[in-house]
Amino acid sequence: MHLDRAADMPLYQQVAAHLRDRILDGGLPAGSRLIGSREIARELGCSRVIVLAALELLYAEGYLLSVPRGGVRVAALGRKVAPDAPPPRADIEPSRLSHRWRSVLAIDYAFDLASPFSTGTPDIADFPFDTWARLLRQAWRHAPRSACTDMSPLGWRPLREATAEFLGTVRGLLCRPEEVVITPASAGALDLCCRMLIDPGDEVWVEEPGFIEARWALQAAGARLVPVPVDSKGLVVAEGVRRAPRAKLAVVTPSHQFPLGVAMSLDRRLELLDWAQAQGAWIIEDDYNSEFRHRDSMAASLKSLDRAGHVIYLGTFSKVMLPSLRIGYLVASTAFVEAFGRGRARIDVHTAGTAQPALAEFLREGHLLRYLRRMRPVYAARKQAVLDALQALLPEELEVAPSGAGLHLTGLFTPRLAARLTDREASARSRRAGNFIQPLSQCYVGVPDRQGLVIGFGRLPTEEARPRLAAVAALLRG
Ligand SMILES: Cc1ncc(COP(=O)(O)O)c(C=O)c1O
Repeated sequence: MHLDRAADMPLYQQVAAHLRDRILDGGLPAGSRLIGSREIARELGCSRVIVLAALELLYAEGYLLSVPRGGVRVAALGRKVAPDAPPPRADIEPSRLSHRWRSVLAIDYAFDLASPFSTGTPDIADFPFDTWARLLRQAWRHAPRSACTDMSPLGWRPLREATAEFLGTVRGLLCRPEEVVITPASAGALDLCCRMLIDPGDEVWVEEPGFIEARWALQAAGARLVPVPVDSKGLVVAEGVRRAPRAKLAVVTPSHQFPLGVAMSLDRRLELLDWAQAQGAWIIEDDYNSEFRHRDSMAASLKSLDRAGHVIYLGTFSKVMLPSLRIGYLVASTAFVEAFGRGRARIDVHTAGTAQPALAEFLREGHLLRYLRRMRPVYAARKQAVLDALQALLPEELEVAPSGAGLHLTGLFTPRLAARLTDREASARSRRAGNFIQPLSQCYVGVPDRQGLVIGFGRLPTEEARPRLAAVAALLRG
């Protein structure tokens, strides 16, 4: 053995590691007797103290035994050691993942967060970083010890209160703090709900086309997905009832359907609620990005029509503030909240606590409302720039679905373009132009009945819309 005096690893640990390896690979079989510590030290050219420290460690770990008058011997390990066995592989082969996770990872999904057309990506250039930094500092200078040690699975109480008030102001959703749970953004909330609500094989309605991340969480929980079509009035509830009348759950985006942008009509909302009530089913309402409405008014949330407590409303601060914040919320009946809290205590205890006190102050002092007021016209102008550019560049090829909120538009292929190109091919061409745009067909569970492109504009300056889309249009025609 060679001791490396320049290495970061202390010498006694090097000696111990060498002996441990020899024991594990069978070079020093069980029962064999070690030579004395003085002799080892002499051979290695180090102090005996180092050897004794190494032996001490190996005694503690169970590799060595001290036998009265028998000296130091190698212990019998519980497993066979093969002298020439190759070291175990450290990487995980896909076949060792669960069937469910393999099926989730097999779902084809093309995206590029760095693309100017990435969907759901906000512009953070004007975010009030100074205020946020001040509140983080301030919150932690004065934070009570309970914020550091025993935060509730339901979240930091002042943040639950501030969120309830924020939802009343921004979405007209009247709820009590007891009905609010702070979650690891919407994706985390969805995952936790799926784990707690779904048994393997349960049927779940999903919008077709719909939000692919919801599909991942549901599939990972073992749900059987039932795609339900979306038309100009939103989810076709009657078709859901025809396909799976006894589904356990429906996951919907009624305010601004993802990806088509349509708002669910009032009669469909009431039909959906009636079905859930009659079946005892749950509805997850993902109200993503409705804070970014482009008009003054917007339909009330499904949750505000829910009298019987079947709707679990999800929202996120990640998209309206900073994507890496990963803090969101759910609003549900107090009975669900109570059960959810008990479940969370057994899964991940609670949402990371560091930012919660600062976020509560950020909301309480009105910074988020001011920021949203500032950003709404910015996003509305970006949407208009994309609409104008598409109208000018691809009037015969794309039909843009109307959308009153959010950070993306969906351009549906006209029969003329669909005859020449699939949306996956169009998306691949946009990537080649350095302006990746997602294909609509990857939002389908079944065979897509429409082709299109889902075009994000959150981070796209108005003046860039035309030249970038011109580059894409040239490739679509070519
Ligand atoms: C339909 C939909 N729901 C929810 C979200 C937000 O998810 P999260 O809060 O996990 O970032 C997005 C983001 O793009 C979305 O498109």
